[in-house]
Amino acid sequence: MNADGRTRLNQTPEWAALAKHREQWGETGLRELFAARPERATDYTVQVGDLYIDYSKHLVTDETLTLLRDLAAATGVEALRDAMFRGERINTTEDRSVLHAALRAPRDAVIESDGENVVPGVHAVLDRMGDFSDRIRSGAWTGHTGRPIRNVVNIGIGGSDLGPAMAYEVLRSFTARDLDLRFVSNVDGADLHEAVRDLDPAETLFVIASKTFTTIETITNATSARDWLLTGLGAGQEAVAKHFVALSTNAEKVTEFGIDTANMFEFWDWVGGRYSYDSAIGLSLMIAIGREQFREMLDGFHLVDEHFRTAPAEQNAPLLLGLLGIWYGNFFDAQSHAVLPYSHYLSKFTAYLQQLDMESNGKSVDREGNPVDWQTGPVVWGTPGTNGQHAYYQLIHQGTKLIPADFIGFAEPVGDLQPGLVAQHDLLMANFFAQTQALAFGKTPDEVRAEGVPEELVPHKSFRGNHPTTTVLARALTPSVLGQLIALYEHKVFVQGAVWDIDSFDQWGVELGKVLAKRVEPALTEGADVPGLDPSSRALVAKYRALRGR
Ligand code: F6P
Repeated sequence: MNADGRTRLNQTPEWAALAKHREQWGETGLRELFAARPERATDYTVQVGDLYIDYSKHLVTDETLTLLRDLAAATGVEALRDAMFRGERINTTEDRSVLHAALRAPRDAVIESDGENVVPGVHAVLDRMGDFSDRIRSGAWTGHTGRPIRNVVNIGIGGSDLGPAMAYEVLRSFTARDLDLRFVSNVDGADLHEAVRDLDPAETLFVIASKTFTTIETITNATSARDWLLTGLGAGQEAVAKHFVALSTNAEKVTEFGIDTANMFEFWDWVGGRYSYDSAIGLSLMIAIGREQFREMLDGFHLVDEHFRTAPAEQNAPLLLGLLGIWYGNFFDAQSHAVLPYSHYLSKFTAYLQQLDMESNGKSVDREGNPVDWQTGPVVWGTPGTNGQHAYYQLIHQGTKLIPADFIGFAEPVGDLQPGLVAQHDLLMANFFAQTQALAFGKTPDEVRAEGVPEELVPHKSFRGNHPTTTVLARALTPSVLGQLIALYEHKVFVQGAVWDIDSFDQWGVELGKVLAKRVEPALTEGADVPGLDPSSRALVAKYRALRGR
């Protein structure tokens, strides 16, 4: 029992019912499930906006789905969702509201935090971002020497990098091709070096993206970028105003860095870093795709927000996907979840989802601080599918692990591809459909034998199948569809955190490393004694200093 009187997750009758169902499930496979009910191919689908979501190739029946929904009801998923949309401080360990849905709400919506409607403020910043993007895109905004900006370098890390960097890749064919966007995140000097080495400082804008404006990697890179710019221009501090803008919640630190707050685009502490790319953090993306297409993307997010908020449980896609993950993670002991897009443009999509999911649900205490004795967030991984087929799919098909996977594909390619390349799209998608079929239904030893395969090779050439997949299919990967996809995953992560009774919106786990790094640095540079440094790390620091000739 929790202190507030709620029964702990794994002591609820709904949990027990699922555990029993799992026991009775035994080895029931997808061949049997489809033989018993071929209509599951269409029954187990849901349409959300442009996304057609097929979950028929999952190890579930109507009974499983009912039991999972019962668990969601018993754990108060809907109540927590409604509290989030009402602006309640559901991020309890940081005492904050969680209102990323307000970032994409239409102008006339009312969403409150602490009794104040936050939507007008959101739109005021979007309008300023739009005006600024227009001026960069048209060449009206000029650098210190009067030349138009042609290169935009976003400096940020984590949520202040992954979102815009991912979305810029996704939407490349919607971007102004005469502008070059680059993203610098790593404090390894090589990152900034490679990003700027062929750029002309007179035509370069740095967008310093940091919610807190205290993140050491970002501030260090921003300082080095300022040195590079001023040296390159042969100018003093006065050149900064034309070449640096800040995206942050912290006006004081922005001013301290030397960026005028007139060149700052703000957001708010109710926007978590990993939920922020549709806030001011998206400025570089907006410069690339323009304010109208940025709005289309926000409308895509909003469509799925509304679906999540209002759709009944049976058709609620984020709820469903979240619960399927719980079925495998908590009752089949699956440790990871693969996201496999069949689109070159989605090459950074899974990396983005890693922060979204793993920073949100990589927790081992519940909201009251008690250790959880159930599995929480999975390891999320994957790269574009066709490349993966020639790398790690072997393990998914024939290894010993159960790895649920999402397959994301599109009916039409985007961009002005030459006709031959358009034709390649069918081959890409043939792989997409073939893989989920092979994963689900495998190949029995008898089928292998019937092909005349010698008996000693039969075990090697058999596929056991029953690898569960979700297929997400849309007509094309447009800005709106990208927004829909991201919101789908955001809310899926929300559902899982709600069931697991964890705070999905804090990230204390990244703090310890940051604190230790600050303590270790003087040991590397000055040979300072770091009290409390363990013997292994002390020996490694000594080796490092020797290798550097110190
Ligand atoms: O990695 C920890 C983290 O706090 C993330 O949550 C965040 O997205 C990232 O650092 C960057 O933080 P900031 O935007 O404040 O620089």
